[in-house]
Amino acid sequence: MSVLVPTMGALHKGHQALIKRARSMSKEVVVSIFINPLQFENAEDIEKYPRSPERDIQLATLAGATEIWMPDYEEIYPGEIKKLKASPIGNLFEGVSRPDHFDGVVTVVNRLFEIVKPESAIFGEKDFQQLQIIRHMGSKVEIIGVPTVREFDGLALSSRNIRLSETGRISANVIYRAMAAAKLAPSVAIAQEIINTTLSTDSGFKCDYAEIIDEDSFFLATDATQNKRAIIAGWIDGVRLIDNMRMGA
Ligand code: PAF
Repeated sequence: MSVLVPTMGALHKGHQALIKRARSMSKEVVVSIFINPLQFENAEDIEKYPRSPERDIQLATLAGATEIWMPDYEEIYPGEIKKLKASPIGNLFEGVSRPDHFDGVVTVVNRLFEIVKPESAIFGEKDFQQLQIIRHMGSKVEIIGVPTVREFDGLALSSRNIRLSETGRISANVIYRAMAAAKLAPSVAIAQEIINTTLSTDSGFKCDYAEIIDEDSFFLATDATQNKRAIIAGWIDGVRLIDNMRMGA
């Protein structure tokens, strides 16, 4: 059985954790590297997306990939594109500022599954909304989420982190600190208050959203909600950062 790790390249230790997890499950680990134009807002963003194919091959191989697949556009989208629609949570949070983004993600993930036919596929919890939307696709492929890999100070690994200035990089762990401080709060209201207060201590952080949601519906959590998660997005130095953390013990 093969396990697929879909990526858009620019690999780092976070992707390596996904590949290692795949390798612990199977001797056949396919890492796909495809920058999917359907999930970008404009041509400039696609152009700016970091590309490091040689380093990607090295990192993926070291982590245990047995096949590194770099399809071209025609291989993924031959002829007319059959666009899929993401589940309704695709319109919330990340979907507000990027309206077609999750439709693009489910469309490409579906194509990757059709071509590779994996038994399982691995995605990072770092993009938790994406992970849940992929789970909602109802595919026969088993979807496995892997916890976020963090820097020494809690900042979630991301290929965007290198775009932060020195002071921005120091500020950036405010997102992790806010969530960690709220994790064991006795109520949603108190957790939310802790998050808001912590984020406001850093003037360099421009918040987009910071909420505690139900992990499945992405509706705002109440105290009765079973599985609660803090989700935060914002900008530091103009670099958009997102992160999330399970709330409760
Ligand atoms: O998370 C990503 O890198 C991409 O959204 C994915 C899942 C590879 C689809 O292009």
